[in-house]
Amino acid sequence: MKALILVGGFGTRLRPLTLSVPKPLVDFANKPMILHQIEALKAVGVTEVVLAINYQPEVMLNFLKEFETKLGIKITCSQETEPLGTAGPLALARDKLIDDSGEPFFVLNSDVISEYPFKEIIEFHKSHGGEASIMVTKVDEPSKYGVVVMEESTGQVEKFVEKPKIFVGNKINAGIYLLDPSVLDRIQLRPTSIEKEVFPKIAAEKKLYAMVLPGFWMDIGQPRDYITGLRLYLDSLRKKSSSKLAVGAHIVGNVLVDETSKIGEGCLIGPDVAIGPGCVVESGVRLSRCTIMRGVRVKKHACISSSIIGWHSTVGQWARVENMTILGEDVHVCDEIYSNGGVVLPHKEIKSSILKPEIVM
Ligand code: GDD
Ligand code: MG
Repeated sequence: MKALILVGGFGTRLRPLTLSVPKPLVDFANKPMILHQIEALKAVGVTEVVLAINYQPEVMLNFLKEFETKLGIKITCSQETEPLGTAGPLALARDKLIDDSGEPFFVLNSDVISEYPFKEIIEFHKSHGGEASIMVTKVDEPSKYGVVVMEESTGQVEKFVEKPKIFVGNKINAGIYLLDPSVLDRIQLRPTSIEKEVFPKIAAEKKLYAMVLPGFWMDIGQPRDYITGLRLYLDSLRKKSSSKLAVGAHIVGNVLVDETSKIGEGCLIGPDVAIGPGCVVESGVRLSRCTIMRGVRVKKHACISSSIIGWHSTVGQWARVENMTILGEDVHVCDEIYSNGGVVLPHKEIKSSILKPEIVM
């Protein structure tokens, strides 16, 4: 089986992290977002992943080369010269997606995190005989998503409305699809939206089916959702493979610590913390609801909560970093500094406190 991951877009909502790498390579729970997806695809027998990309393909390919051999999966790029939206890239990659087998293929949004119930969607797709299967999930605030109205018993989709202005329902498109090759005949090679132009038509012909995704789901393309997503991911990890989580008197709740990181005496870490490879957390540090990326140093008695600390940054002694502070790559927060929601661009040194949420260039 094959899969296409929609990787385009500049990931502006995850800046400053996406100033250093394309969004799919931003670490989530200690590995690049896209690796979570590729590993799960591999696990259900996908042999080739096509990345539909519209900028920096070299960066992606160079990075993923290593994983092609490690995971034993072919990874190729299909590069757009202009952004083709969420459907156009499928037309562009047409030849890569279809072969003699006539098998359906996966399409994923690159910024969604879940338990990736791919096995379940394959079964579902076989069972209904329609042309396309999509996964849906319930959310409280459906207006920023694609909303699906479906017949509960069969999953047949009655209506698909992208970002509705008035309430239509609370089941939303989770950005995980399994499509028959015939869907490609419906898509022209031009900038076009699968949500606005393709799904509504298949639904009108009663050939679009939706299944409610088991387990958790989150679009982690924005800092607040990224932090919530980490909590949900770690909750799920606790249920599925709790041995991967850290244990000890200094750990509270669910915490993921890379084995190459060092944690000093008297720290209190958790809940919902991910500490990436090569980090040094000195003594007496307090961390909660945060991500500490590769190569970060957190100095003595610093306190970090509800924040993301980008690669190779430093947080000084007695510093307090909180409220959706996002430090880009290689940022240095001096000793005793307070950051309340600062969004700091890469390679900056922060010498005075950031008292209210603001961007520091
Ligand atoms: N190759 C390519 N080219 N990819 C693109 C382009 C493009 O021009 N534009 C967007 N993408 C990719 C993004 O990188 C992302 O992986 C995916 O398409 C969806 O785009 P987003 O910008 O993240 O859309 P959204 O989050 O507002 O809405 C989508 O996702 C929701 C679930 O998170 C829609 O699919 C909604 O229906 C859905 O509910
Ligand atoms: Mg998104």
